[in-house]
Amino acid sequence: MLDRLKAVLKARFGSVPALQDAPKGVDVLADMADRRVIRRYVDKPIDPELLDTLCAVALSAPSKSDLQQADIVIAGKEERAKLEALLPDNPWVKEAGALLVFCGNNRRHRLLFEWRGRPFVNDYLDPFFNAAVDSGIVLATFVAAADRVGLGTCPISAIRNHAQQVSDILGLPDHVFPVAGLGVGWPSFAGVMSPRLGLDVSIHHGRYDETGLRDKIAAYDKRRELVQPYKSQRYTDKFGTSADYGWSEDKARQYSVPERADFGAFVRRKGFKLD
Ligand SMILES: Cc1cc2nc3c(=O)[nH]c(=O)nc-3n(C[C@H](O)[C@H](O)[C@H](O)COP(=O)(O)O)c2cc1C
Repeated sequence: MLDRLKAVLKARFGSVPALQDAPKGVDVLADMADRRVIRRYVDKPIDPELLDTLCAVALSAPSKSDLQQADIVIAGKEERAKLEALLPDNPWVKEAGALLVFCGNNRRHRLLFEWRGRPFVNDYLDPFFNAAVDSGIVLATFVAAADRVGLGTCPISAIRNHAQQVSDILGLPDHVFPVAGLGVGWPSFAGVMSPRLGLDVSIHHGRYDETGLRDKIAAYDKRRELVQPYKSQRYTDKFGTSADYGWSEDKARQYSVPERADFGAFVRRKGFKLD
């Protein structure tokens, strides 16, 4: 199984840690490293109890200071139809067996203060950040748990393109905000392994190190092009067609237009000060 883990990591990162002995759980590690986003599903319902169980497993993830500031909304039929209408660029969501929305929740703690007649003195960026991080960790844990039972998932940050509408549809009160949606379903295909930046880019030993970063990213562009070339190019009206269109050009183009520039205003309307 160590060989399989190494093969998967090599395909993902282009290199492999020099591990000699198979650690406990090596087969689980190989499966985790081999995960893929799944946007194609068969038409088969998901047992609601299984969904609740996966949520419970996900909510067993670590929580900042045990504050427990992540919630999951399993969208109901009516709510789901309204959410799907907001996601024309993600038509695959309609095929998913379930649509979940992972939220950050700093409301409960404010209520604890209200119930005790005490002022909430921690009105800074930190409570928002903590809740957002907790929610992201719970989402990632749900994804890992869903993989284990054979369900496919795809997160959906596109719901934050319409954060206020999503909040209204789901009835999210002040200090509760959507972090990401998640389509969940029984996969109709195995998905495609998406190569990542080299391990020498993202793992820093001792201290942060950017030595040779530009060359390393150029090498990643080439490695990725071999197995997962981009099928289309973004914003050709603005940037033309590039002969060597890779990950770095795609991301430079993606961030060339403002994305969710109004999200900060939405979060402030939700009652966060973010100072
Ligand atoms: C927080 C988050 C938000 C995402 N939002 C979307 C989305 O709105 N639509 C979509 O199709 N994929 C979305 N994705 C999936 C990513 O595109 C996908 O994870 C990435 O391309 C890498 O592929 P992989 O997960 O198979 O390695 C999102 C992923 C994350 C973690």
